[in-house]
Amino acid sequence: MDLPVLVLNGPNLNMLGTREPDVYGTETLADIRAKTEGRAAERGLDVDFRQSNAEHELIEWIQAAKGSSAGIILNAGAFTHTSLAIADAIAAVGLPVVEVHLSNIFRREHFRHHSHMSRLAEGVICGFGSEGYVLAIDAMAHVLSRRGKRKERRGARTAAARPARATRGGAKDTKKKRS
Ligand code: DQA
Repeated sequence: MDLPVLVLNGPNLNMLGTREPDVYGTETLADIRAKTEGRAAERGLDVDFRQSNAEHELIEWIQAAKGSSAGIILNAGAFTHTSLAIADAIAAVGLPVVEVHLSNIFRREHFRHHSHMSRLAEGVICGFGSEGYVLAIDAMAHVLSRRGKRKERRGARTAAARPARATRGGAKDTKKKRS
């Protein structure tokens, strides 16, 4: 069975619905979860949707994702801009990451313009509110299928190369014939 996509939400995202609605909208995290799971089902993906206000918990979940998740959709909240430890965890597991933010962080305060996560992410989606999570599922489906195809091609190339390696003597003969 295919591994689920881990959707990680950082600090204060549990407050969505009442938190600065002019910036983040009025949908709750439960609404966003339902939307994300709905799209994932349409794309044939399973989702493991979580939120924590604690940096160490997010790090532990990222570490545990190695071998148990296909990829990570990450809205690290304010940790996006501060946490080298979360970025290190992402680098350590080597899973594909799609970074998502509800708000357009580049339209906001200067301190939100830098993300420690972005250089490790396949891509970043920001500014589309809760729709960003739906887009992130589509992006992750694309990344995973691209990786799957690459693996298949590599497998086919290895299989094709095997007989040639087994008959090295034969290869020499071919060379002789050409010269
Ligand atoms: C956020 C943007 C961050 O700057 C902020 O600290 C958040 C939410 C977003 O989804 O727009 O908590 O990640």
